[in-house]
Amino acid sequence: MKNAVIPVAGLGTRLLPATKSQPKEMLPVGRKPIVQYIVEELIRGGINEILFITGPDKASLENHFDTNHELVQTLREKGKEDLLAELDFDRLHAQYYYTRQRETLGLGHAVMCARSFVGKEPFIVALGDSIIGLNATSNIVQRMEHCFDENDCAAVIAFEEVPDHEVSQYGIAKPKTDGDVFELLDIIEKPEQAESPSNLAVAARYIFTPTIFDALNRTTPGKGGEIQLTDAIKIMIEDGAKVCGVRLNRDERRYDIGNFESYFRAFIEFALADEKFGDSLREYIATLSGN
Ligand code: G1P
Repeated sequence: MKNAVIPVAGLGTRLLPATKSQPKEMLPVGRKPIVQYIVEELIRGGINEILFITGPDKASLENHFDTNHELVQTLREKGKEDLLAELDFDRLHAQYYYTRQRETLGLGHAVMCARSFVGKEPFIVALGDSIIGLNATSNIVQRMEHCFDENDCAAVIAFEEVPDHEVSQYGIAKPKTDGDVFELLDIIEKPEQAESPSNLAVAARYIFTPTIFDALNRTTPGKGGEIQLTDAIKIMIEDGAKVCGVRLNRDERRYDIGNFESYFRAFIEFALADEKFGDSLREYIATLSGN
């Protein structure tokens, strides 16, 4: 698989004012903006063509993945090799593409914008606000690709077990079987806790064949009046397509940067894991909490 799509067109309203004039995907977690972790995860997994589905005020994201020749030259002249190394990611062998979602009609509508980019190939969708694994060390996408190749699926989705009170924040699976890899009988977008078929929540990574676009074409507005990707997956299953789920491992945390609480937690965890400053930060936090 060589193509991936990263939707980054959301308004980030739950993170205002930090996201007033910059995308939430550009907020730093530790040393890097969130979206850089996602791009690095994808490139490590062999992806080299990445389409961002953007919205207004996403220029800083485009600049981040472009080479800043002036900065490189200045650092080179000053012999700042260590800082030049920090910019290595923009020399990674990936090609970046951008298209605008011109109306915010939902995640399903955003994915629809990738139709001509992906053509007839299967592709990955990685949501731009979720990092999988501390410092994005997860190989979940490779495990999903393995499942895709082995099982002749039309879609493979990553799932994470969440507490009961969180099911109403996610797409939730109705699995056919137990296990780390399972087939889906159904999927429901943000169910009420009492009606939830399981605790397995969509964890921001998907693989699709282009049949998703036919399903999206037939998807009517759902939760929140938006065209939901989950509803299109449901249509695929109803059409008889095989859709599989792959669970995150227990030690494979998913950092969903959806609100300030989850953002603060992710930042602290990544900062504590920082090679240079992690230990002193841990000591500092202990002094704050009086331990
Ligand atoms: C979206 C999807 C949802 C999924 C979630 C993962 O929701 O609609 O099914 O579980 O991403 O992060 P959002 O977070 O955009 O409300």
